[in-house]
Amino acid sequence: MPTRKKIGLIGAGNIGGELARLFANEELGDVLLFDIAAKENFAKGKALDLEQNGAVLGYDAHIRGTSSWGDLEGADVLVITAGIPRKPGQSRDDLVATNLPIIRDVANSAKKVCPNAFVIVISNPLDAMVYEYKRVVGAPKAMVAGMAGVLDSARFQLFLAREAGVSVKDVRAMVLGGHGDDMVPVLSMTTIHGVPVSTLIAKDKLEKIIERTRKGGGEIVNLMGTSAYYAPASSAVAMARAYLHDEKRLLAAAAYLEGEYGYKDLFMGVPAVIGGRGIEKIVEIPLTEDEKAMLAKSAKSVQAVVDLCKKG
Ligand code: NAI
Repeated sequence: MPTRKKIGLIGAGNIGGELARLFANEELGDVLLFDIAAKENFAKGKALDLEQNGAVLGYDAHIRGTSSWGDLEGADVLVITAGIPRKPGQSRDDLVATNLPIIRDVANSAKKVCPNAFVIVISNPLDAMVYEYKRVVGAPKAMVAGMAGVLDSARFQLFLAREAGVSVKDVRAMVLGGHGDDMVPVLSMTTIHGVPVSTLIAKDKLEKIIERTRKGGGEIVNLMGTSAYYAPASSAVAMARAYLHDEKRLLAAAAYLEGEYGYKDLFMGVPAVIGGRGIEKIVEIPLTEDEKAMLAKSAKSVQAVVDLCKKG
């Protein structure tokens, strides 16, 4: 019986590579870096470089590049970044045409070789891609999550920390809803070590920060010509670690809703407890009327993309 956890990373691009580095560095398990056949050697090269990195940094993890789904047999965790990222001027929803067939292809293969894995989808448009993954695999809702809320909350926390002149470590914030420009930063739950953020930052400044958070992904795409990858990878690893170590962390994650917050048959960012049984609980927090209205707007946008996928 293998005793090390098996981590499958589907997509060996920018986020995939950083994920491999983080999983290995924390020795969370052995890593399989999977990509399409045309990029198998690229995945193998990255894996070898990262294994050699372990000899310098002193971590011991096996990292292997592959394009064969058979190698993913029995994986404990899958993190999916397969697909294309945004280019300047594109919205996340513009990626549907390319990424929808890719997520279906990935889901059909994963269903055969590792149907019991805890799966974290990162590919965009996030809420629709994670919905499609779960639909194709038919996996239980506890075992499929989308990564967006941890990242969006981190962006919000950073901007708040810089404005207030405090350490980013002391800022707690929660960004809910879909991973789009109408995501919902929940101000009523945002504090600097328990101090309501509104006591430290003026309303007009807060509004600007919310706007910057909503466009936080686009800001980086415009600067780099491609999507962010360091913080997205760390965010997914935080979710995977919560599962692997049964940490029972309360994180913002795209979870399958069955009536929570008044929404059904939809993935959207909500506070969720992640532990050894996957998404163990969705926590319903009281929202102000404004926040409820923002969430409704965000849900409508997510539903529109899901509907588009259903027709595709
Ligand atoms: P990338 O282009 O560097 O890597 C994507 C990799 O997926 C490529 O190596 C490509 O060959 C591979 N791929 C394509 N089809 C595949 C298939 N059928 N099976 C396996 N691999 C396949 O892109 P990057 O920067 O790593 O971004 C990946 C995705 O993550 C994009 O869709 C991007 O928009 C999304 N993203 C999501 C975020 C979130 O918060 N949820 C944040 C940042 C990016």
